[in-house]
Amino acid sequence: MAITTRQVGPCFAAEVAGADLTKPLSPEDIAAIHASMDRYAVLVFHDQALDDEQQLAFTRSLGQIEHAIGTSLREPGEYRLPTTFADVSNLDQHNQVFARDDRRRLFALGNRLWHSDSSFKVIPAKYSLLHARSIPSQGGNTEFADMRAAYDALDEGAKAEVENLTCEHSQIFSRQQLGFTDFTDEERARFAPVRQRLVRTHPMTGRKSLYLASHAGGIVGWPVPEARAFLRDLVEHATQRQFVYAHQWRVGDLVMWDNRQTMHRARPFPAHEPRDVRRTTLVGDGPTVAQV
Ligand SMILES: [Fe+2]
Repeated sequence: MAITTRQVGPCFAAEVAGADLTKPLSPEDIAAIHASMDRYAVLVFHDQALDDEQQLAFTRSLGQIEHAIGTSLREPGEYRLPTTFADVSNLDQHNQVFARDDRRRLFALGNRLWHSDSSFKVIPAKYSLLHARSIPSQGGNTEFADMRAAYDALDEGAKAEVENLTCEHSQIFSRQQLGFTDFTDEERARFAPVRQRLVRTHPMTGRKSLYLASHAGGIVGWPVPEARAFLRDLVEHATQRQFVYAHQWRVGDLVMWDNRQTMHRARPFPAHEPRDVRRTTLVGDGPTVAQV
């Protein structure tokens, strides 16, 4: 069956029809999905009753999986899911909702800030695929912002100013914004900043986009307060309503987004209710900039 897409909300999000992700897709469908990702950047697949193996198989049919090792505050013995998944649920390894003051939960609240997945890694993520197994009774939307449209809307002076800037990204910077500074020495070393270009060019379409995230806490060569004020302004610009699509989840939704072209954030929901959403991630092609 050939897949089709239908735009939803702003022009960068689309619903996909005609795809049963529990079964292997044809090469034509795989190519159509990549082409749709290049065109839109966020794709929504409804009513996908996937198990872990099926989600992994679909993800692998699109590219190489990024492992989630050492990117959260879960200890090695506390993983609920294999490292082929990023466990962005609010559940511990026994499927119990984290206590409100659990530091693993508080760290994960950083996902409520605008970000691009794994921008704190030398090779950042390409696509993320998030599948909803159970959702809270209210709230919990995921919002997406189109960083190509945000770039296009900059005036020529601003485009020239950002063109060659390099940012430093770390999960320590994003958590600092929420007042979470409770890191061990080992965690501080593990979350050491990496460098990313501020302006990225899409390898297929040639479109430029702003590569922003709350993980960005500095600009190479700039005083820190000036860099943070500048980045804050850019995030404000890039997340204006006309650039944003809000996804209201249904169980069985799989939403896939291109981290190279979008930012996203999670919205609040009742803290005592389980939210079992499972993310698989594709690794990017390489670093966006040379590291020190
Ligand atoms: Fe995320």
